[in-house]
Amino acid sequence: MNKTQVRLASAAVLGFLAAAAGSALFAATPPDTHGALDAAAQQQRLDALHIPTTGVPPGVDPVAWASIYVPADNQQTPERIALGRKLYFDTHLSRDGTVSCATCHDVSRGFTDRRNVSEGVGDKLGRRSAPTVMNAVLFQTMFWDGRAPTPEEQAKLPILNPIEMGHPDKASAVAAISADPSYVGMFQKAYGRAPNYDDIGRALASFERTLIFLDAPFDKYVAGDSNAISPAAQRGLVLFGGKARCVSCHMLNGSNPLGTDNLFHNIGVSARTQNFEALARKGLEATKSGADEQALDKLALETDLSELGRFITTRNRSDIGAFKTEQLRNVGITAPYMHDGSLRTLWDVVDHYNKGGETNPYLDGGIEPLNLSEAEIDDLVAFLFTLTDSRFAAENTAAYQEQHALAAKQRPFRDDALAHRQVLPFETRVVGAAGLK
Ligand code: HEC
Ligand code: HEC
Repeated sequence: MNKTQVRLASAAVLGFLAAAAGSALFAATPPDTHGALDAAAQQQRLDALHIPTTGVPPGVDPVAWASIYVPADNQQTPERIALGRKLYFDTHLSRDGTVSCATCHDVSRGFTDRRNVSEGVGDKLGRRSAPTVMNAVLFQTMFWDGRAPTPEEQAKLPILNPIEMGHPDKASAVAAISADPSYVGMFQKAYGRAPNYDDIGRALASFERTLIFLDAPFDKYVAGDSNAISPAAQRGLVLFGGKARCVSCHMLNGSNPLGTDNLFHNIGVSARTQNFEALARKGLEATKSGADEQALDKLALETDLSELGRFITTRNRSDIGAFKTEQLRNVGITAPYMHDGSLRTLWDVVDHYNKGGETNPYLDGGIEPLNLSEAEIDDLVAFLFTLTDSRFAAENTAAYQEQHALAAKQRPFRDDALAHRQVLPFETRVVGAAGLK
């Protein structure tokens, strides 16, 4: 060892001692939370939201709730919801004890993580942005590509995904939570059985069925309070259903409170960076002999094939680069946007649509340049911010100001020539196809 090495080594020892002393002094410091608010503080926020845990959630059709949204073998009970809530915040569901559902679906961050892609065990990054779990149970399928059919099935996947929570198998997850003896009684009361993997999924889904947030200024406006949203937002609502054509995919009405058609469209988000033909060939190869849910989950979260979207589930040509129409509820507080978190503000989102998305051979027919003026863009954005539940009014206002300031500085997706049809997007499309790598 030369002198420098000795010095470095002793500095490392000193650093280690300081860290050890630090942890003794601040024994209550939470372990690595991957940037999420710590669980106790999140639970306080949750309590402050005063979410009703019995009955049909306000804003949801009672008949649909009973017949579609709540499965016969997992009716809502207070015991199931309480068990699901405890599991939701429990880091034992991850292999290294640092990640819970609430790490990536943080109550203080609109039940998402404010990252473009999520960070799981070992600080590993996935390929997709975490959608909010608010109202997620009202979708007809789960995930950006709909690869899980129900919230029950969805909840069981992140626990076993190597870069999310990383348990090697179901037994290891059940053993890890069983270290807490109170679970035995809770599972017994909830499902009349000992802790087991399927009931973990069921309980988590029961808890998620309480996370319904459909009480926004927009709803008050529709119910007849004409002052509930600003004149700018009212103009934005007209654009939403008219010139901007958002409503053709984001249906928003009493029977579709989320603002989604539950279908999958290529709106040209992935097309910015992908050679779809080459990727689709790889996708066909990877799913040739059939892929089960867990295999699809890994392809979606860990590989380049992620950008194929719905295609890896259906192998349909028209599903190449197609993703689920995301809900518009609470969209003010769930940035960044899109499956890859690539758009930071709602101005970026509208700029993307205004120029007709990113051209590619699989672009949805409903995506065309919109010719919206700057004033119209502002109005549409003002409208989108009225879709956030009133319980998050303060966060929504703060997010509006933050995004407004950011958009004043940079609008990376704005393209006036395309938006106002001074050039036609097929010119780019031809070059794009010829220029494939
Ligand atoms: C490491 C971060 C991470 C963890 C931990 C995590 N999720 Fe997610 N969650 C994501 C990402 C990323 C997606 C989107 C993945 C995709 O669509 O391919 C997602 C999707 C979802 C969806 C689908 C929502 C929709 O709109 O389709 C639900 C519901 C959900 N997660 C619930 C949970 C539950 C319950 C847990 C705990 C068992 C959990 N998540 C753990 C990151 C995470
Ligand atoms: C052809 C169908 C279609 C049309 C038309 C459409 N959308 Fe979308 N929207 C989608 C799909 C699909 C996604 C998810 C795409 C992705 O992540 O790759 C999406 C995502 C979004 C998101 C992101 C939500 C989030 O939480 O990440 C917002 C906001 C949005 N759309 C607003 C609008 C607005 C405003 C308009 C009208 C200007 C519009 N959409 C028109 C299909 C559509």
